Amino acid sequence: MKLQTVKNIDLTGKRVLIRVDFNVPVKDGKVGDDTRIKSALPTIRYILEQEGTSLVVMSHFGRPKGKKNPDFSMAPIADRFSELLGKEVKLASDVISDEVTAQVEALKSGEVLLLENVRFYKEEESNDPEFAKKLAAYGEVYINDAFGTAHRAHASTEGVAHYLPSAAGFLIEKEVKFFAPLLDNPEKPFVAIIGGSKVSSKISVLESLLRTCDTIVIAGGMAYTFLKVQGHAIGKSLLEEDYIEVARSFLDKAKEKNVSVILPLDHVGATKFDQNAEAVPVDSVDIPEDLIGMDVGPKTLAAVADALKSARSIVWNGPMGVFEFDSFAEGTKKVAQMVADCEGVTVVGGGDSVAAVNKFGYADRIDHVSTGGGASLEFLEGKELPGIKALEK
Ligand code: 3PG
Repeated sequence: MKLQTVKNIDLTGKRVLIRVDFNVPVKDGKVGDDTRIKSALPTIRYILEQEGTSLVVMSHFGRPKGKKNPDFSMAPIADRFSELLGKEVKLASDVISDEVTAQVEALKSGEVLLLENVRFYKEEESNDPEFAKKLAAYGEVYINDAFGTAHRAHASTEGVAHYLPSAAGFLIEKEVKFFAPLLDNPEKPFVAIIGGSKVSSKISVLESLLRTCDTIVIAGGMAYTFLKVQGHAIGKSLLEEDYIEVARSFLDKAKEKNVSVILPLDHVGATKFDQNAEAVPVDSVDIPEDLIGMDVGPKTLAAVADALKSARSIVWNGPMGVFEFDSFAEGTKKVAQMVADCEGVTVVGGGDSVAAVNKFGYADRIDHVSTGGGASLEFLEGKELPGIKALEK
């Protein structure tokens, strides 16, 4: 894919409109994990370093469902953004209004204005062309660096690109640089570790990976449906009855294509799904009747380590078990460490696995930790991301 990037576009003297994904956790008026804000700073700094530029920044925050709602105001995010950028960030009173237009027009060189939450207007999510035109009127050039929202065809992520010269920021460029080869031409062997609780939300990515992967590790809650297909006892573990045939067909296709699939060989179980439940080691593939599979065991981890030994490309999406509960976090923690130790190109995407590498302190040793949850999943599914597609001119 040919992406026009911020470096290929003349910004001198221009008012630049940028879409970022500042949809970050906020609690008691304070931003928690600010990775997404930090990740957009290289592009924002680059734009402000160009002579005579000013910047209008737009993002969504949460899902206010098309209505103005102070609980979803960008105010706390504006504060953190300003701190990290090391300069004043003005917060607009709205997204579209005469007052905002006046604020935009009054921007001087080097100044930054953050619009209120673009999802305060239902026209954002319906990608209303008139709304997109009004947003486009705020800038002379449009830069999209919102990888986390690139799978949404919304006015600020897709619509605007039709009305202004447009390009990708450095974050989108970097995300594409790491994800695209995994679908086209990965360095081999290519190992994917796919965890998470539901077959239904991961089956498309598993099918897509069959095209380029050598080994696929399936773990997390969804693994029990696959084990059931193989005739194993899964106790009280999660089972998606509706997906048994889908899982069976996936395993058949993997066999046809010579892709090796690693499923859990042993487990850590519990009698109830509870953070204080006692962790019970299960030293076999089969799970006793009274237990719920909560994590993978040491044999499974040894099999993953073996697959990763020679891997040149690795993608990890989704935890190995219920890592939010300390007694069932070991599998996910060990996999985070193994991926960090791996010599191949390592890519981690998806909210929970990213949270895991951060929680266990391995993020710095991963080649690319994606800022996209749904977006990274859809990318791996081989879907076109509308926010990126609109920039390919
Ligand atoms: C995310 O956090 O995945 C993105 O910001 C997109 O948010 P959404 O799922 O509400 O569109």
